[in-house]
Amino acid sequence: MSGHGQAQPMTARRAGPLTGRAEVPGDKSISHRALILGALAVGETKISGLLEGQDVLDTAKAMRAFGAEVIHHGPGSWSVHGVGVGGFAEPAEVIDCGNSGTGVRLIMGCMATSPITATFTGDASLRKRPMGRVTDPLALFGAKAYGRKGGRLPMTVVGAASPVPVRYATPVPSAQVKSAVLLAGLNAPGQTVVIEREATRDHSERMLVGFGAELTVEDGAEGRVITLTGQPELKAQTVAVPRDPSSAAFPVCAALVVEGSEIFVPGVSQNLTRNGLYLTLVEMGADIAFENPREEGGEPVADLRVRFGPLKGIEVPPERAPSMIDEYPILSVVAACAEGRTVMRGVKELRVKESDRIDAMARGLEACGVRVEEDEDTLIVHGMGAGGVPGGATCKTHIDHRIAMSFLVLGMAAQKPVSVDDGSPIATSFPAFLPLMARLGADVSDL
Ligand code: S3P
Repeated sequence: MSGHGQAQPMTARRAGPLTGRAEVPGDKSISHRALILGALAVGETKISGLLEGQDVLDTAKAMRAFGAEVIHHGPGSWSVHGVGVGGFAEPAEVIDCGNSGTGVRLIMGCMATSPITATFTGDASLRKRPMGRVTDPLALFGAKAYGRKGGRLPMTVVGAASPVPVRYATPVPSAQVKSAVLLAGLNAPGQTVVIEREATRDHSERMLVGFGAELTVEDGAEGRVITLTGQPELKAQTVAVPRDPSSAAFPVCAALVVEGSEIFVPGVSQNLTRNGLYLTLVEMGADIAFENPREEGGEPVADLRVRFGPLKGIEVPPERAPSMIDEYPILSVVAACAEGRTVMRGVKELRVKESDRIDAMARGLEACGVRVEEDEDTLIVHGMGAGGVPGGATCKTHIDHRIAMSFLVLGMAAQKPVSVDDGSPIATSFPAFLPLMARLGADVSDL
């Protein structure tokens, strides 16, 4: 699994309409953070609804290696006995973060201001991804990193024995970079400041405040200015992880493109830093009702009722990209099933995700008979209308869960079946994807 094991081909083909209720798993970003902040807090943090995907399980294992006690009680139910800020022990083994950029970057952040050394690695996908975006700011605290050419894993990080606080403007819109700097700032004296020009997902800020850190956010001329006061005593919390809007995107988009579908997806986050896809789908003419808005696990959520219907291509505002950065692969599938062109600009960050997602989607869509245009920072999909995509191809997933799920959704709507060469990475974020889609009526198989 996740690039370490055997490839698992999967195929999706058109079947009847999708109907019923889709309960998607816990939010991946929040699950990582719950384990990490639990490990840095004093006392017992209780977590319910934790995503038990491989990415998060790898973070749980890493927190044990740094000295926290992490206990699994039952489905989604975990507890973490933390060691306190600055209390991390030096791990005896190499920390293998599997497929997870979030896991490795956040963990590097939270160990970088302790006098310990750790070596990190991951699967073939993660070993290609740039770590310099995190190790550059961590060096300002006094940490050192020794990795492969281009700042790639495996990499050894030597934490700063006498860290200094940092003021850092993130050069790329990245919640992982922001969070790594904030987590490092926890064990530095004084105030660490992170400035982001565009708002990225704010789960770290919300949860740090929830665990008792002193953190303020101001909107200024430079952007969002986040100020954290170092060396707090984090207090153990009870965390109810809400459902993942990025996972909900797959059944929601499947229902929008499979003729006659109507599904209900409860508890989808409406956090403004995560809901860009949903705004975009509504602009494309999607029939989505946002019912029963409320707060769950500290996040605004709503139940979604989603119905198939005609969709039109649009220009996605580039400034919306950070709030839907993980959703462009599935959006490009919806775009292929819409009438007219969908233009996605300002998306070059997609090139450094689990795979180069612009290239992976462009090649797979072309193989399925869809016309696309791309440049470094842009993807344009020429829609073929409802039921219009020919399909009939095997698409490469490049060890990327979201590419795999996107092409399987395309197979549910295309004229001929669509296969993926390897669906095993789906287990990193949505282990129950296949049975959940099958219960809704989809024909997806791993044979
Ligand atoms: C995440 C941030 C995003 C996103 C990833 C999860 C996080 O990455 O793509 O899936 O939990 O902080 P970047 O920080 O690279 O944009």
